[in-house]
Amino acid sequence: MQLALSINFVSLPNVYFSRMFAQSALTLASCKVTIALYLYVKRFQFLFYQSNFNVQPENKAVFERASMISYQDSIFVLETDHTSYLFRVTPFGHLEHIHYGERIPRGEMEPLLLKRNIGHGSAVVYSQKDNTYCLDNLKLEWSGIGSGDYRQTPLEVKLSDGTFRTDFVYASHEIVSGCVAMQSLPNAYDAANDAETLVLTLKDQAGKLALLLYYTVFPAVDVIARRVVLVNEGEGHISVRRIMSMQLDLENEGFSLVTFDGAWSKETHRHDRKLQYGQYVNSSVTGASSNRHNPGFLLYADGATQSHGKVYGFNLVYSGNHIGIAERSPFDLIRVQLGINPGCFEWDLAPGERFETPEAVMTFSPDGFNGMSAHFHDFVNEHIVRGDWKGKERPVLINNWEACFFRFTRSKLLRLARQARQLGVELFVLDDGWFGKRNDDHAGLGDYNVNRKKLPRGMKSFADEIHALGLQFGLWFEPEMVNPDSDLFRAHPEYAVTTPGREPLFGRNQLVLDLCNPAVRDYIVTNVSQILDEAKIDYVKWDMNRHISDACSPTLNNQGEFYHRYQLGLYDVLGRIFRPRPHILLESCSSGGNRFDLGMLCFSPQVWSSDDTDAMERLKIQEGLSYLYPLSAMGAHVSAAPNQQTLRNTTISTRFNVASFGCLGYELDLKHLTMLERKEVREQIAYYRAHRKTLQYGRFFRHDTDKGNKVYWQSVSKDQSQSIAGAFQTLAQAAEGNDILPLAGLDEEKRYRMQTKSQRVLIRRFGGLVNHLLPINLNPNGALFRWVDRLYAMQDCIETYTASGKTLHQGVHLNQQFVATGYNNQIRMLGDFGSNLYAIDEISQEEAAGF
Ligand code: GLA
Repeated sequence: MQLALSINFVSLPNVYFSRMFAQSALTLASCKVTIALYLYVKRFQFLFYQSNFNVQPENKAVFERASMISYQDSIFVLETDHTSYLFRVTPFGHLEHIHYGERIPRGEMEPLLLKRNIGHGSAVVYSQKDNTYCLDNLKLEWSGIGSGDYRQTPLEVKLSDGTFRTDFVYASHEIVSGCVAMQSLPNAYDAANDAETLVLTLKDQAGKLALLLYYTVFPAVDVIARRVVLVNEGEGHISVRRIMSMQLDLENEGFSLVTFDGAWSKETHRHDRKLQYGQYVNSSVTGASSNRHNPGFLLYADGATQSHGKVYGFNLVYSGNHIGIAERSPFDLIRVQLGINPGCFEWDLAPGERFETPEAVMTFSPDGFNGMSAHFHDFVNEHIVRGDWKGKERPVLINNWEACFFRFTRSKLLRLARQARQLGVELFVLDDGWFGKRNDDHAGLGDYNVNRKKLPRGMKSFADEIHALGLQFGLWFEPEMVNPDSDLFRAHPEYAVTTPGREPLFGRNQLVLDLCNPAVRDYIVTNVSQILDEAKIDYVKWDMNRHISDACSPTLNNQGEFYHRYQLGLYDVLGRIFRPRPHILLESCSSGGNRFDLGMLCFSPQVWSSDDTDAMERLKIQEGLSYLYPLSAMGAHVSAAPNQQTLRNTTISTRFNVASFGCLGYELDLKHLTMLERKEVREQIAYYRAHRKTLQYGRFFRHDTDKGNKVYWQSVSKDQSQSIAGAFQTLAQAAEGNDILPLAGLDEEKRYRMQTKSQRVLIRRFGGLVNHLLPINLNPNGALFRWVDRLYAMQDCIETYTASGKTLHQGVHLNQQFVATGYNNQIRMLGDFGSNLYAIDEISQEEAAGF
């Protein structure tokens, strides 16, 4: 384009725009041949379930004094590379928390101890021997009921004598290398074998209870995992009504609580509130970890930003009802708890039986939210995701859902696959509607046999055809659900979850299958496995599209166990189906991000983040997720515009720019793309594939900005040789000042070349302004302009800079964006929903010097 000179829209006619249109005409002519052609052609080695499935070797070697965990003079010291966690056994046997935060030298506990020199008025003292010893004022690793601590108890047990009092005191401990396998649930694992676990046994002598507290230290990722096991050592049954996975008491540092909340299509929006006195609860009772409140939450000290300040992160390796609590006590202590939601929970524990909670994980960073997220990202990639897809780059996929919904034929799908292949897509995913009588969402769930009307030659033949195109093949299932209009329901109505004597409630015209029932689990395993073995399937999308209601299973004596047993059943089914098929990439989904949690990530390396594919909405959703989960776990697709969830129109560039910070996919009918859009998509996929490792596995930064209409993201490769930065403008503002692109994470000594990713600007972006440039007046929404836009576009502004990491860290002053007074090709065209990507690549000294 010859538009280097500036153009003043106000004092026109202007020769440059005329020249531009003349050139457009030439380009159009030369494109004719192309256009004519165009028209003519038109081991998941499931390491989880370590003990049940015997995959993770349990190393029980006992250390006398381990390097990360030590015990001396009644003090436990747990250390990761950058954090210390200290607590001690008090003279009465309780575990008193001392410090969790920056790593400090050992043996310097005194200044950090909470001082007790005189009793508080009206306090209930634990023992007459020491009137300063009041549990209510102590920071405790665990607490009971009825011993003077009036904050939220982590454990409520109705003992066999009908009483509730419990008081757990230290009995013994051991330090073991690695992680300790769980019997019923997936938990973090340690392939590198550099973790250590402290197992503390506490006893409540009177109640005849033992409580095992597990602390697993993952040094390199600065994460500590915690869970408990309760053992009934008495002769009678006890009833467990509440049992948390962890408790942490901290002194208040002006903490605010961050939760990630939402609903269908608006998942994981960040919400902050300063902790005042009382309890803040982050919970789900929907039967899944839910889109309402993700189980992960954060605490940050006053003044923390993305890059500075103290931030604590918490999450739970669990996919069911959860609860997280932050309680500010009258003495300004903050109690944090996390575990199974006690709502409708009641677990019968017979003599000798044990109950294990899911694993909670926590991290601390003095380097703001980005520092905290980096720990969690590395932790998930290293210690949660397992099997063949651990650390592996995720394929670029095309999903047919938003392109076809339920209406497709074999040839329509093959055409979509062929087009996708030409654009560089690697995996074709056949979504809902391929089985049973699934022509809409009223029928078919439960019957995973191929619908021969849609795929007359069967699944194997179709999968072979997709593979023959050079694509991998993936399939959608929703195995936890059943439609009453299905062969499964007609044969086994008792498989559906219902409450006797009550009309069952429907969600999306479907009922939930009773995963507490072993026969149901067997059915699902057989039915799904059959199709997975019949055809060559490389990927599965496992969906779950409604909340649970009517919670009740005829297989249970105690319905208080339903929700937890459902989760155990789900993990059992997932393990049995996918453990023998480790090559399959599993993407879990629950109406989008209704079950985005660490439990599912133990099985599925990636999760569909949201049914909302609108780029502007995705900025909030993906950013929210990024606090807790790595980009390698987030499914992110480019879909059609206007967007099907918001009706918002965004450019294909912005849709890609946002989706590229995740596992990229396309979910639209490619035949509706213009020639220019197809060209751009081909370039996008090539660009993504070239930078995929950095985007999926790099260190991710959310950058602070004072501007409410900007979002800045950045991923930096682990070796700091490459980075991709994204600058997004949500809404344009008139006559805005300059934009500075914040950058971080580069090697300050290295030199880099930074360059804008090329993208196109359509003439219609200028609307009626073009008439200031033309000798004749044309309708800016008319057919001529629409036609031009299909075939011709201008190159958006490209900026190139060469500088050291140190200089780039000061922030790059970007070219001015469009401010209404004119246009040239050095002006960034953003407007509403505009965005750019920038690649920052290390260059050698010679290159930097221009050789
Ligand atoms: C859910 C999923 C979508 C799609 C549909 C199919 O809504 O989140 O991605 O798979 O189900 O019915």
